[in-house]
Amino acid sequence: DWIMGNYIEEAVAKIREQVGDEEVILGLSGGVDSSVAAALIHRAIGDQLTCVFVDHGLLRLNEGDMVMDMFEGKLHAKVIRVDASELFLGQLAGVTDPEKKRKIIGGLFVDVFKAEAVKLKAGDGGHKGATFLAQGTIYPDVVESGGTKTKKATTIKSHHNVGGLPEQLGLMLLEPLRELFKDEVRELGVALGLPPEMVYRHPFPGPGLGVRILGEVKKEYADLLRRADAIFIDELRSTIEPNSGKSWYDLTSQAFTVFLPVKSVGVMGDGRTYDYVVALRAVQTSDFMTADWAELPYSLLKKVSSRIINEVRGINRVTYDVSSKPPATIEWE
Ligand code: XMP
Repeated sequence: DWIMGNYIEEAVAKIREQVGDEEVILGLSGGVDSSVAAALIHRAIGDQLTCVFVDHGLLRLNEGDMVMDMFEGKLHAKVIRVDASELFLGQLAGVTDPEKKRKIIGGLFVDVFKAEAVKLKAGDGGHKGATFLAQGTIYPDVVESGGTKTKKATTIKSHHNVGGLPEQLGLMLLEPLRELFKDEVRELGVALGLPPEMVYRHPFPGPGLGVRILGEVKKEYADLLRRADAIFIDELRSTIEPNSGKSWYDLTSQAFTVFLPVKSVGVMGDGRTYDYVVALRAVQTSDFMTADWAELPYSLLKKVSSRIINEVRGINRVTYDVSSKPPATIEWE
């Protein structure tokens, strides 16, 4: 609508004025905030923006390619994709403690991003270096860092809206979403031409599948989990609840699959299988502090279960998590 149109014009003018002819770096995660910040800044300054997308190998099925297709392919933004999956998986080998896994993933993420940022700051022959670091900080983040902050909130923000990083890198901060609430950020994203499926996606934790594979993270587990989770999400998106006319994806606040590194017995044809188990998790919540498990229709659960077991060789049992928060948390780790 035209109100958002005016907002974009003003925001673009402000970014141009602030940045002048300098260069800007932005850490793109594929999440809503960094995506909308990237689209807005790109609208304002085009090629003066370079996005750095660190792929830690713990993203969802085709997620990295989708980010590249959108930002490089459709928006024609400059994006450096750093495939760091081997580095992350290597450092995670043998580590089972959830908080240790978070620390390793968060720490490596900052290291990898920083290394790219240092290169971009230095510039190269004929190309001057960056002087700004852009972040998708939104209004609730600003309030959060001034007031009370839970341990998890700190961990959450430590990934992409990295406190202290601009100072360490000697870069100035550019935060064009600082005054916006989440729903305004989403509207802005749509107005900038980002696909609604991207802008209205459920939240995804910074450590990604790293905390959805219980215990040790292995590539084999991540690959199985990605395929199972894609089936679950696909069915949630395509199953419409008749009374509201909305999809079950839109009727849930967060839904995902958890990989359990245990094997159970099954039968297939004349043979016996001994394969892994996954748990489906879907919750409804307004603040993520408390949450109810979603009463998904049995027909939907049935379809998801049979598709996962038939299509993902290596998984022979699917369970549904019927625990609310509290006392259970939304994630399993
Ligand atoms: P829990 O499991 O604590 O999750 O009920 C509440 C919300 O926080 C998300 N979450 C995280 N997000 N890094 C993140 O960026 C994390 O380490 C992390 N742990 C949990 C979770 O997905 C849910 O939305």
